[in-house]
Amino acid sequence: MEADQEEELLQTLPRERNWYGTSYLCHFQGFWCPSWAIHGVISFQKHFQARDTDLILTSVPKSGTTWSKALAFAIVNRTRYGLEDNPLLTVNPHELVPFMELNLYVNKNRLPNLEDRSDPRILSTHLPYPSLPVSIIDSGCRVVYVCRNPFDQLISHWHFSLKRAQEDVDPPLPLEECFDLYCKGVHSFGPFWDHVLGYWKASLEKPNKVLFLKYEDLKEDVNFGQLLKLAKFLGFPFSAEEERDGVIEQISSLCSFENLKDLQVNKTGELAGGFKKSSHFRKGVVGDWANYLTPSMVKRLKDLVEEKLAGSGLSFKAF
Ligand code: A3P
Repeated sequence: MEADQEEELLQTLPRERNWYGTSYLCHFQGFWCPSWAIHGVISFQKHFQARDTDLILTSVPKSGTTWSKALAFAIVNRTRYGLEDNPLLTVNPHELVPFMELNLYVNKNRLPNLEDRSDPRILSTHLPYPSLPVSIIDSGCRVVYVCRNPFDQLISHWHFSLKRAQEDVDPPLPLEECFDLYCKGVHSFGPFWDHVLGYWKASLEKPNKVLFLKYEDLKEDVNFGQLLKLAKFLGFPFSAEEERDGVIEQISSLCSFENLKDLQVNKTGELAGGFKKSSHFRKGVVGDWANYLTPSMVKRLKDLVEEKLAGSGLSFKAF
């Protein structure tokens, strides 16, 4: 699609206010896409050629994406780097595992060169399952989805918007307004329930293709529950010797919230798009929503999510 056609398309799409900044959200292929990302989405869908060896990390924003990137990178590269020289100590996880539509394909004048990347390429996207490029679905590449209970995801997203808005001209939206938009499905890459259900169903239909992880499960049992499962799925299972030598625990400590948050590389500086690296690390806990949502908000969202997820077999422990 040419630039002027994209511009025309943008003009025709339904739009809503974004939670921060001067950009807006447009309704594209059934989800709410930040207007500034439309070009990257279309270019990614059109040009990306998946390899069978690719590992694609997916999520709704603020669901544990940063964590899953760090974990996948550390698992896959554990024989290349030791604990002392691990790139995670000096490079932000979003730079090690870039977003395709938000980073790699965002440039209107140049397509990224992904051919020179060595296998396995670890890449990421926030696109809903039905909007993934055909080659991701059709190839043998593997997809890891991380999700989080909607209450914490909403509150995390709202805080992220507050931080983001400080640098923009527009004041941030109050929580009540964001909550209302959230219940209408209006937030980056929302509606939440469509996003999670798309990947949930794919993970049930194709368990060797799509691994479905929950932030709360990672918090509860990162080592022998989730990391074992993740490493096996990625094609890099831990050997009995590694298990015995504590390699799993070393990886979970390296990627822990406390460790990553305190690294100089994650405290200062910005990522592409002007996002502060530090804005990806806030509290890192389950249940912080209880400090913000009123009982009536909790009831409204709980009822809504239960209705949307009814019959799917998917549920969240945290509410
Ligand atoms: P909170 O705002 O609730 O603290 P994403 O990476 O998808 O943008 O999600 C960001 C959320 O994950 C933030 O949640 C952030 O603090 C938390 N987070 C970031 N790194 C983490 C890690 N290594 N372990 C656990 N949580 C992490």
